[in-house]
Amino acid sequence: MAYDVLYLSQEDVKSLDVSMKEVIAAVEKGLVLKGEGKVELPPKPGVHPRKDCYIHAMPCWVGGEVDMAGVKWVAGFPGNLDKNLPYNNGVFCLNDTDTGVIKAIMDANWMTTWRTGAAAALGAKYFSAEAPKVVSVIGLGTIGRIVLRGVKTLFPGLSSVKLYDPLHTQYEKYAAELGGVFPDLRFERSKTMEEACADSDIVATNAPILEKPERPLIKSWLKPDCLCIASDYDATLHEDIAGGGKIFCCDDRGQYLWTQGHGVYFQNGYPSEDGIYADLGDIAASKKPPVTDGLRVCVFMGVASHDVMTAGLLYKKAIEAKVGQWLKL
Ligand SMILES: NC(=O)c1ccc[n+]([C@@H]2O[C@H](COP(=O)([O-])OP(=O)(O)OC[C@H]3O[C@@H](n4cnc5c(N)ncnc54)[C@H](O)[C@@H]3O)[C@@H](O)[C@H]2O)c1
Repeated sequence: MAYDVLYLSQEDVKSLDVSMKEVIAAVEKGLVLKGEGKVELPPKPGVHPRKDCYIHAMPCWVGGEVDMAGVKWVAGFPGNLDKNLPYNNGVFCLNDTDTGVIKAIMDANWMTTWRTGAAAALGAKYFSAEAPKVVSVIGLGTIGRIVLRGVKTLFPGLSSVKLYDPLHTQYEKYAAELGGVFPDLRFERSKTMEEACADSDIVATNAPILEKPERPLIKSWLKPDCLCIASDYDATLHEDIAGGGKIFCCDDRGQYLWTQGHGVYFQNGYPSEDGIYADLGDIAASKKPPVTDGLRVCVFMGVASHDVMTAGLLYKKAIEAKVGQWLKL
């Protein structure tokens, strides 16, 4: 029997004008439920048709009072920058949890970007003793831009951002886009990664993920009380940071260890099970106290509960605003 499914294109999703504050709230709610053990989140299976590329399936059920389920099919292709295409591309499918029928199919590019910025912002919220003043962003693409939006949303007093990207043209784009959004923020261009890291409260890394990571960013460049937030697996942070900080936090312990166990990422000096202080859900649900001094290292691979929570928010907004197209399945 055919039934109606709501289709939301990327333009539809953008037209909903959802704010970073709303995405952060949704992602945080998902993290609390995850910490309370109410989320089913298997590690993401993937295929890898080209070097340094992936296409992942990310299913998840967020239980408790949320009770929403869905799956994201998302690709990451670093060469897309040269082709004027996004690094990440995907589609999300939202299911009804009583019947399993599909309620909506939507663009997943916007959600992947915005929920990643929201997760980084929450890392900054839980692991900062006081409001950060200076943030470094390494890798100035889509994720580098949204991470700043997330952190600045939670910490409006943030006064400067130090920027590094080996592709120099990225700086102009970055400063032009975000300078308009945050006119009070000072944008500093750094010639080297080392210069960008000096004296920063938070260093956020957003470079392409590599099967043979170079991990160029070393501990001696950081001030002792620095918070590192990596959205790029082990591409940038050296093992002397990942394995040598006061605490190491990931967004999902199971997914991190499963990925490490496959022998490609998080090898050679990255923490194994004993070295993980907490996952972000443990902190959000107050199962573990946050640590706010010393070198703190967060590696957020991106978890499907963020996507389900963001998709639920988009679906609700779209129904209210009568946005999207109803298609027969
Ligand atoms: N953790 C998550 O939840 C999550 C979600 C989405 C994307 N990502 C990851 O974030 C990263 C960035 O994605 P994006 O969409 O911004 O890609 P993008 O192509 O828009 O930007 C990548 C940027 O990194 C720069 N870069 C290249 N080599 C670098 C290096 N060695 N050091 C510093 N910068 C370098 C590029 O010039 C470019 O500006 C990717 O690794 C992607 O897989 C993570």
